[in-house]
Amino acid sequence: MSVTESSARARDTLARNHRTGFSRAAQRHYDFTCPSPDSYPFQWAWDSSFHAIALTHVDTRRARDELRSLLSAVTPTGFLPHMVLWQDDLRPRATEDFRIDLWEGWRSVTIAPPVVARAVERVYRATGDDLWLRRVLPPTLAFFGWLGEHRTSPGTGLLEIYQPDESGLDSSPKYDGALGIESAAEDAVHAAWHGAMRSLITAYSAPTRTPETPLRDRRLFVWNDVLVNTVYADGLACLARLVRTTGSNGRTADRLAAQSEAIGAALMRHCWDETSGAFHDLDLVAGKRNEILTASSLLPVLLDSVPESAARRVIEQHLLNEREFWRPYPVPSVAATEPSYDPTFRTGAIFRGSSWINLNWYLYWGLRRRGYRAEADTLAARSCALVAASDTTRECYGPEDAVGHGARSFGWSSLVLDLAAATVTATAPATATAATATALEEG
Ligand code: GLC
Repeated sequence: MSVTESSARARDTLARNHRTGFSRAAQRHYDFTCPSPDSYPFQWAWDSSFHAIALTHVDTRRARDELRSLLSAVTPTGFLPHMVLWQDDLRPRATEDFRIDLWEGWRSVTIAPPVVARAVERVYRATGDDLWLRRVLPPTLAFFGWLGEHRTSPGTGLLEIYQPDESGLDSSPKYDGALGIESAAEDAVHAAWHGAMRSLITAYSAPTRTPETPLRDRRLFVWNDVLVNTVYADGLACLARLVRTTGSNGRTADRLAAQSEAIGAALMRHCWDETSGAFHDLDLVAGKRNEILTASSLLPVLLDSVPESAARRVIEQHLLNEREFWRPYPVPSVAATEPSYDPTFRTGAIFRGSSWINLNWYLYWGLRRRGYRAEADTLAARSCALVAASDTTRECYGPEDAVGHGARSFGWSSLVLDLAAATVTATAPATATAATATALEEG
């Protein structure tokens, strides 16, 4: 029942949030799905990547156009902005609303987790459109090259971010210490976070700022984020497979696969905590590991380069632990045992406890990859129940009570379409979609 209802909500959102037109500032046509008509009207990079995956179940033409629009924003240097502000009429209020610096007027200067490679692979597998792949693969490869060149920490070999929202997990309590807001009272967290972000962005802001402006040596916020690096390593593995598919250059594919493995190995070396059995971010300014247990601590179970023994500890000691993450409506973005856990959105700040469908989606595939089929299906079913519980898709949901919070008609919650399709195929292995699902599990 909740599968049918959640799928209806998802389809409705994808229809409502569709945006097309011509941007005078960018001098090109756009065709994308905004995260939320009221709250987030522009194109956001990781949101769009999730939208494209959901759209493979609805309209593969739109799925292809979504990524083509996004990747048309890649700069000649290979940079893909976290936000593309296509609409000329809406742009003026955006810098205020979204605390951003713009590059050439219509692109943000910051990054988002590079989900785009996984999305390109999923859309290609759904369509088999070689011509499309030949158009979108070069800018995707260019962006991954840019990340490696401009964002690799010399000491750890991991990607680094220079402000919390580059991980997409904006107000996660794991950043409180680095932002100097760890002692803010619950009702003051939201304002304190905005204040700290404003100071950071003002400090970085300069008329000469470009996406390549070096920020590491400013030592304001330099961070190896586990989620960002897991998504990056996953993306490199997707690109290696795609390059092999095109048959173009075996050496490039080998290099990408080796880079993916190296990121997995660096996560094990620098972020894996043998005592807690989980992965933790590195705050490179403070020179220490962040101890707060969040959903990103679980994400590396996705990666083949993470050994089975570590993945099983993460899953059994944390993800499936009812005191921490396996709550009535998993997966909370912060473990329920953390003092900062905010399951009812009392702080009004995101990623402080609510469950998010995009994180559930990654963890669903992680569980399947590691052979936890029944638990993966439970996670998919509860995700569908969450989405069905509100009258429209919501930005995030209460892990204890399924109450929806944040933006309405929210795009990436439509990933329930992918979860529902994958779960159905789990019980009907003879279908073509089942073959796709098995291929995904295998890599
Ligand atoms: C918020 C989220 C970010 C997301 C954006 C649009 O800023 O933190 O991850 O991309 O909203 O949904």
